[in-house]
Amino acid sequence: MSAHLRFEIADHIATITLDRPDKLNAMTPDMAKALVDAVATCNSTDDVRCLIVTGAGPRAFSAGSDISTLDAYATPWDFRNRADYCDALRACRKPVIAAINGYALGGGLETALACDIRIASASARFAAPEIKLGWIGGGGMAVGLAQSVGMSNAALMLLTGEMVEAPQALSWGLVSEVTAPEELMPRACEIAAQIAQRAPIAAETAKLNLRAAHQMPYEKAVEYERDLQAICFATEDAAEGRMAFAERRAPEFRRR
Ligand code: COA
Repeated sequence: MSAHLRFEIADHIATITLDRPDKLNAMTPDMAKALVDAVATCNSTDDVRCLIVTGAGPRAFSAGSDISTLDAYATPWDFRNRADYCDALRACRKPVIAAINGYALGGGLETALACDIRIASASARFAAPEIKLGWIGGGGMAVGLAQSVGMSNAALMLLTGEMVEAPQALSWGLVSEVTAPEELMPRACEIAAQIAQRAPIAAETAKLNLRAAHQMPYEKAVEYERDLQAICFATEDAAEGRMAFAERRAPEFRRR
């Protein structure tokens, strides 16, 4: 773990907090590795049913990669093959919520894009500022933006590097909800608790299905969905769900 990343698990919900507020939670290699490790722990721990990723302090979710560390890579190829925390988040089997409490810039925006659900504080601001530094993002920026805000808005962000305010981000679909700053974590916890109450295998499968659907021809996607549906249907939890409905009680899902 890193001194600048907090990782907690409670009530089936894991919370990862980027904790370097004096540097706007800019991501060091040490933090990146800790984030990759935390996601691996979430994947391998049945107790975790949902993750929340957020930033410490009132100003930033994350201002992206720590620019001062970027010259330390011996070669461009080493840089190319760095352990990428966005890859880890995108590959996480458990549903992930980004609670965006301030600046989400560069790798910070890519971190949010790698999550399944994004909610933001009214003070959040978003940008792909790499172009101002003479390069471009490499953690899924273009594909993530294109999928969430559409090509023209993505191009506007990628080519200008300028900030987008929370209301604009909401109207573009970059985030699902905007809350008052003090309501952000309670709302993220509320959504996470709802997901954690659902059948865990079905929740993981719903995520897998949604992500796969983006990359498949329509009819193949429906076929794949039906296969996944059959797998869920055959679980003990699905039998419990039907029984609980018949008995008019809350289901008790056991991830079986
Ligand atoms: N990498 C390293 N340090 C960063 C950083 C980053 N990506 N973003 C912010 N910081 C540091 C600043 O250097 C400063 O440190 P200092 O107090 O030791 O000087 C501290 O965080 C606070 O940032 P500061 O720039 O003083 O705040 P501001 O309100 O004037 O500006 C931003 C805020 C976000 C506009 C500005 O920090 C910025 O442009 N950051 C870079 C964002 C970026 O390009 N990200 C993509 C990186 S690939």
